[in-house]
Amino acid sequence: MGDYNIAIDGPAGAGKSSVAQQVAKSLHMTYVDTGAMYRALALLALEIQCDLESEEQLVQLLTASTITLKHDEHGQRVIANGKDVTEEIRSQLVSRHASTVAKHPRVRQLMVEKQREMARDGHVVMDGRDIGTRVLPNACCKIFLTASVEERARRRYEQLLAKGEKPSYQEIYQEIQVRDQRDRERAASPLIQADDAILIDTTAFTLEEVVSQIIAHYQQKVGQE
Ligand code: DC
Repeated sequence: MGDYNIAIDGPAGAGKSSVAQQVAKSLHMTYVDTGAMYRALALLALEIQCDLESEEQLVQLLTASTITLKHDEHGQRVIANGKDVTEEIRSQLVSRHASTVAKHPRVRQLMVEKQREMARDGHVVMDGRDIGTRVLPNACCKIFLTASVEERARRRYEQLLAKGEKPSYQEIYQEIQVRDQRDRERAASPLIQADDAILIDTTAFTLEEVVSQIIAHYQQKVGQE
């Protein structure tokens, strides 16, 4: 048994953030969305036309910037250099570039340090790609969420439709495939399931069902203490 944190990893669109938010709420823990940090850096880099392939430039930008996650009763807000970018970092453009930013080992190292700091009190539900394997290897409860590419693309398509956008299912499907490949094949902390994580395929489950499974697993782990 490690600390009391919950680590949730998995590919884009597997439902991590909705699930993690709900789990955190039910267990009165703090939800930390680490993808938002890579997104915020991608946004800052795009704003100043930094070369996203240059690790050097990105490290310089990251060390000169402040990226903060704030938590209140409405959830997580993302503040980059004093500006609230919570909504802006969800654009298609930022989504496309965040995985490029995230492939650089030194960028990851700096992000991991900040993330560990946030989890120090041992009371967070943290989601990302390398939480169970690298950021919080001692988390008492590790979950790896997946869903079929078709289902993930369908969920994203419906989210965008609900926002009043006119998405193309085919484009979303292809983008998910590209991001998956980049996240899984990068040399630095690729997306893989931790040995001690439990796998939940969310394709055929409702949000509530997945949340209940995770809470049951957590309580079992904590009960073993
Ligand atoms: O979860 P998300 O889609 O908001 O993540 C944005 C990008 O950041 C995605 O391409 C994967 C990357 N990421 C990562 O490499 N490690 C994390 N811990 C979280 C996200």
